Amino acid sequence: MHGMHARLPKNFVLEERLEKYADVIELEPRHYVGRWAQACSQLLPESPKADFTEVRLDLGCGKGAFVVQAATNEPSVLYVAMDAEPLCIAYAAQHITEAGLRNAVVVPGKGSDVSHVFGVGEVSCIHLNFPTPYPRKKDAHKRLVILDRLLEYAQVLAPGGTVRLRTDSQPLRDFALTQFDLAGYDIVRSSDDERRLRPHEPTSEYEERLVAQGAKVLCVWATPVRVPEHPVQTASLSLVDYFPDDLFADGYVPHGMGGAVTNLRNRNRRRTTPTKGQSPS
Ligand SMILES: C[S@@+](CC[C@H](N)C(=O)[O-])C[C@H]1O[C@@H](n2cnc3c(N)ncnc32)[C@H](O)[C@@H]1O
Repeated sequence: MHGMHARLPKNFVLEERLEKYADVIELEPRHYVGRWAQACSQLLPESPKADFTEVRLDLGCGKGAFVVQAATNEPSVLYVAMDAEPLCIAYAAQHITEAGLRNAVVVPGKGSDVSHVFGVGEVSCIHLNFPTPYPRKKDAHKRLVILDRLLEYAQVLAPGGTVRLRTDSQPLRDFALTQFDLAGYDIVRSSDDERRLRPHEPTSEYEERLVAQGAKVLCVWATPVRVPEHPVQTASLSLVDYFPDDLFADGYVPHGMGGAVTNLRNRNRRRTTPTKGQSPS
């Protein structure tokens, strides 16, 4: 996991973990394109078998705390948890298995795989919980809320389906708003303090840790409403350009942005503190 590295237990062997929890890991997700709800319901022990009512994707699921809570709360919904990191896949699969869930499956994959894993209109909701911010312009293409990804998500979302972003990062949230607009989405819900407004929503590992450090949870739900004719990236790609003028003077600096904030604060200090024989510029 980016930034906050998971401490591995003694004797942790990734391959062994992946094998141990293989029952809930799907290595050939393309076999299920367009039929996840039906195919996974056939694995349930109950009879007669009813298809799952919805398919939701937890993209960048991390160690799976969110998906375990969400799937427990809604047994008729199939949750697909996807992450690019094998370590996260192993942990998420372990937690799903230990919770005895039959309505959650883990898929190794990246954001750019989403449109190859699901059929048109198959997914009712894509959860992006605390996605890695990748603040630098040169890494912007890796963000899960960038124009190209949002255009792909729009293909697999059902009518009225939503992308639901939760983040501690105002710069990432504000960047995401530009991308939703360019990709033809409308914002259907947003808040600057989701924990206060909806305290009973499932939470992720990052949410728990960052809130304990003073973060507020910012949320945006967006739904695709038009297909842009010529989608072109016009937004500024460096997250520094979305920093507040006071450089987070209220204390909390979003996860992954500490280095950039320190550099900017130092630069501002040098500008306003005259060195001997110089007047401030
Ligand atoms: C900051 S962690 C958040 C994990 C979890 N959602 C949470 O809130 O605790 C970001 C996660 O996204 C995954 N990730 C980063 N880029 C990704 C990508 N392009 N596709 C899929 N997963 C990605 C990382 O491996 C990591 O597990």
